[in-house]
Amino acid sequence: MHTAADLATLIDRHAAHDGPLLPILHDVQAVFGCISPAAEAQIARALNLSRAEVHGVVSFYHDFTATPDPRPCVELCRAEACQARGVDALVDAAEAAAGERVRLKAVYCLGLCSVGPAARVGDALHARLDAASLARLVQSA
Ligand code: FES
Repeated sequence: MHTAADLATLIDRHAAHDGPLLPILHDVQAVFGCISPAAEAQIARALNLSRAEVHGVVSFYHDFTATPDPRPCVELCRAEACQARGVDALVDAAEAAAGERVRLKAVYCLGLCSVGPAARVGDALHARLDAASLARLVQSA
């Protein structure tokens, strides 16, 4: 759990820049694992926005969550190039391998378009996935 001071440090990193809200929200999500209602309120105060404005942005983007999800996460690219390379046919295998233990998250381009289908686990990128290799990747997450 973060403290108000921890959050203030993150906010201060971006507050002087143009359009600070999204960079702050991304940092808060990455560092604290979620954007709690208390964090939304503190960010709103710091940026002189309404709670509703901040909550509207938080709830619009699937990257942001109100509570932490401790499960390992496999990000599977579902964007056009990976669709053209067959990612849709791999989803069932990935979901079966994930069960409730692993969170599968759709993302839209990992920069590996010519070697998709692509996925990311943590900082590691994986390319040229087929159903078997994606299932192994999910099981090892
Ligand atoms: S479209 Fe999947 S990596 Fe770019």
